[in-house]
Amino acid sequence: MCGIIGYVGNRNVIEVLMKGLSALEYRGYDSSGAAIISDNKTKIYKAEGKLQNLKNLLNEKADEVKDSHVGIGHIRWATHGVPNLINAHPHTSNCGKIAVVHNGIIENYKELREKLTKMGAEFKSETDTETVAHLVAFKYKETHDLKEAVTLAAKELEGAYALCVVHQDEGNKIVATRRNAPLVIGIGDGEMFAASDVPAMIEYTKQAIYLDDNQVAVLTNDKIELFDENNKQIQPKIELLPWEPVSLSKMGYKHFMLKEIHEQPNVIRNFLTGKIHTAKEKVKLDEVKLDFEQLKQMNRIQIVACGTSLHAAMVGKYIIEELCNIPVDIEPSSEYIYRHTVTDEKTLVIGVSQSGETADTLTAVRQSKARNSHILIITNRPDSSMAREADSLIPVDAGIEVSVAATKSYIAQLTAFYLLAIHLAEIKNSCDNDKLVNLKNELLILPQKIELFLTKKEKIQKCSRMYSSSKNFIFIARGLNYPTALEGALKLKEISYINATGYPAGELKHGPIAMIDETLPVLSILMDGKVYEKVLSNAQESKARNARMIALTDVDSDERLEELFDFVLNVPHVDELVSPIMAIVPLQLLAYYIAEFLGKDVDQPRNLAKSVTVE
Ligand code: F6R
Repeated sequence: MCGIIGYVGNRNVIEVLMKGLSALEYRGYDSSGAAIISDNKTKIYKAEGKLQNLKNLLNEKADEVKDSHVGIGHIRWATHGVPNLINAHPHTSNCGKIAVVHNGIIENYKELREKLTKMGAEFKSETDTETVAHLVAFKYKETHDLKEAVTLAAKELEGAYALCVVHQDEGNKIVATRRNAPLVIGIGDGEMFAASDVPAMIEYTKQAIYLDDNQVAVLTNDKIELFDENNKQIQPKIELLPWEPVSLSKMGYKHFMLKEIHEQPNVIRNFLTGKIHTAKEKVKLDEVKLDFEQLKQMNRIQIVACGTSLHAAMVGKYIIEELCNIPVDIEPSSEYIYRHTVTDEKTLVIGVSQSGETADTLTAVRQSKARNSHILIITNRPDSSMAREADSLIPVDAGIEVSVAATKSYIAQLTAFYLLAIHLAEIKNSCDNDKLVNLKNELLILPQKIELFLTKKEKIQKCSRMYSSSKNFIFIARGLNYPTALEGALKLKEISYINATGYPAGELKHGPIAMIDETLPVLSILMDGKVYEKVLSNAQESKARNARMIALTDVDSDERLEELFDFVLNVPHVDELVSPIMAIVPLQLLAYYIAEFLGKDVDQPRNLAKSVTVE
């Protein structure tokens, strides 16, 4: 979390930094700051709260830095110390000449803080980052060279960091380095950029260098010098970014989340294009670098992911086991990495991540790679750290997702799992061909059905208004829509702050039913298929305890629904196997309209960040 940016060049430094930080706002938004070298001085500007507050401050102070050509900026998601002005980055050395912005966590900061305090450093903030500023300052006293000082300091840091450092006595440069946190360098014509992510610089350049762990880059306006972990100068590998300047427009929608929900039919269509031509032909998924022989060796699949990506993985497990007859385990990455997992060269390990930077999933993937597993990555960011670990890479191509709550990337991940499962089944010959043809047909017509549903949102809006004052919410489902219940609940809690929980419907009577009374909405996901009757009878149990009853269903001919439920949300009928893709859309909208009705900050909910780069 946190986003950093650095700029050296002749443009308006404030403008470049602020545009860059706006593009990084998805990484955090509780405070922000900038260090700008001007009149041979390191000038620091910080603001609490949203980035707009820093923009306002810098507008007022623009005259103070108008001759500047070098600046670094930061947008924070607090880990160490509350989000206030003192803890906001940049952090400075006691002499005030050195400034540091940091993304990541310095794990040995307590030891360093003690050591540096004994050496005479005076700490002002509660952050781990301030140790870096003091450490670089002490190294600078020894070396009188910023690059050497940063290189030596970095050797003493444990944990994760992407850093940009400036010093007023070397006011023409930025020194940047990273370990286990993303950092990309942009090469312009007479200008250089460093940033946590490409959107921060794509307006200015498409030429980039992805730093490897422990490399140190020295950026001046006309050159980049790159050093490897042995401090040996190396030739940078410049890549052309396959990006267009990112449109951050809401296209007339009130929020990015609503826009992204409406983009979902096209996300599925785009993803299927070139992969399924006709339902009768085999899926073309050249991204998967496993042939029949290799697949025969695999005796299990493990999927690691977090949050919404984990819910996509849960659906993935269901579909792969159904079609491919291979055992699939799924686990939150944060659990996977701290236990003995039985993983070897016979295990296919799938990492799922919208951002491709989630620290826990990245660690899980690296651990499995070290055990010689084949690594398959499903991500929306083919340029991410996780993608670079992949033996097989499936980019989901959902386009940039600005809203912190994941919607279209989830739908894209689900689509990826369906294609993967069909592809593996076709290689292994593990499933009846008619079933596969039917599934491909269902996928091909799904975007139209979602589009149809998206034209009829009035009922969801009405339902959202009716239930928006609820303090708690329960979602129940069974089978492959159990993850839909979890994802519906996650969406609702993260943007409306209502305490929402998803349960397997059959589990309700084993404890959660104790919570039910006449104030509690219970939303039952009743998609046509083999567990329909079961969920219906579990819903009866809630009705008997006077719950407020909501149904989400694709069945329109069951009279019992109107009797049992206060509110029935209908979606177009779909085949049971693809129902998780259809069923999540109304739940995304329900969460959206409830949050919007409550006046919450839908796109940037409190305490969250889109890219979780700390464990
Ligand atoms: C929820 C959400 C998070 C992410 C989770 C993993 O809307 O966005 O739960 O899904 O932080 O992030 P990625 O997919 O980037 O690994």
